[in-house]
Amino acid sequence: MKTEICPMTTKEERRPAILRAAKLLREGKLVAFPTETVYGLGGNGLDPQASSRIYAAKGRPSDNPLILHISDRSELSPLVKRIPEAAVRLMDAFWPGPLTLIFEKSERVPDESTGGLNTVAVRFPSHPVAQELIREAGVPVAAPSANLSGHPSPTTAEHVAEDLSGRVDMILDAGPVEIGLESTIIDVTGETPLILRPGYISLEQMREVLGQGDFDPAILGKPDPNLRPKAPGMKYRHYAPKAELTIVEGDTEAVVKAIAALAGEKKALGFRVGILCPEESRGRYDASLVKTVGTRADEKTIAHNLYRCLREFDEEEAEYVFSEAFSDGPLGAAIMNRLVKAAGYRVLPAGGEDENLS
Ligand code: TXA
Ligand code: MG
Repeated sequence: MKTEICPMTTKEERRPAILRAAKLLREGKLVAFPTETVYGLGGNGLDPQASSRIYAAKGRPSDNPLILHISDRSELSPLVKRIPEAAVRLMDAFWPGPLTLIFEKSERVPDESTGGLNTVAVRFPSHPVAQELIREAGVPVAAPSANLSGHPSPTTAEHVAEDLSGRVDMILDAGPVEIGLESTIIDVTGETPLILRPGYISLEQMREVLGQGDFDPAILGKPDPNLRPKAPGMKYRHYAPKAELTIVEGDTEAVVKAIAALAGEKKALGFRVGILCPEESRGRYDASLVKTVGTRADEKTIAHNLYRCLREFDEEEAEYVFSEAFSDGPLGAAIMNRLVKAAGYRVLPAGGEDENLS
């Protein structure tokens, strides 16, 4: 299949491209499109065949359910059995935006979109191109992140094309996304609202609105065979960089020293080495190894650049990558959730011994 890439820079190119993309979606075809979090791989969420095509294009296991994207709150009720009070409050506060809610699903939602679950994930994105596309399609748009399964989520149309060129019908290119990490997923079907995947909307923000809420215990540590995460996607290793990625955490000074030493050792042995660090400490490392992911003064920049940096290390075929930890601010949970998984849970306390690997 030939993949058409449509730039969305000017108004003149944007409207006709969106209309063609919407038509493709109605015909059961696949269109990758920008959202404020990451690019999504869209298909008609009510068409079981379109869902199967999504799984095939991504190479994704079909027990991993899809998020249905809508362009107005009125499109929610046909998809769900009931809308709990907590959901209403969260939607008032954060929709449209980077928040996905889990509801009991209605009969209209095919099992193929939800991996056989009796719940459905719904999101109302704020990106204008996403909104216009969904509105014109006139159907809920099922959209996982537009990467091959096992790769980092795409934050630019180029990343989408690298992974999915020849596997989808169209890519709408609206430039780099704003946030760079996938939406926060909150399950509102139980008594206590639970964050199944941390994201831009933090635990604190949820508690401010609801006065309660927690992380799903299964997502907090290493995968535990006795604790099954409620978001099936969270059980997968997800993205494993080609390099062995190690996160070093602790006191800044100790972290910098430890990373410089570890990277120096590997480099001396002839390995291709990379260092992922913030603006604040870049000058402390071997300049030939460093990628600056953002600034600690504005952790949004770190979320924004993280996946791009990880993709670049892969392209450069780095064999060892050492990263500082980024757990400080409200976005820390989301950033570290992705980074720690990419590191295969290899987190080293600065100043500690190897056997302290946790
Ligand atoms: O920001 C985002 O959410 C992006 C953009 C494109 O909107 N989408 C995204 O989709 O990240 P995906 O498919 O890569 O991740 C969806 C996650 C998976 O971990 C999946 O297991 C979980 O949502 N999920 C979907 N439906 C669910 C359900 N009914 N119950 C629990 N978890 C669900
Ligand atoms: Mg994904």
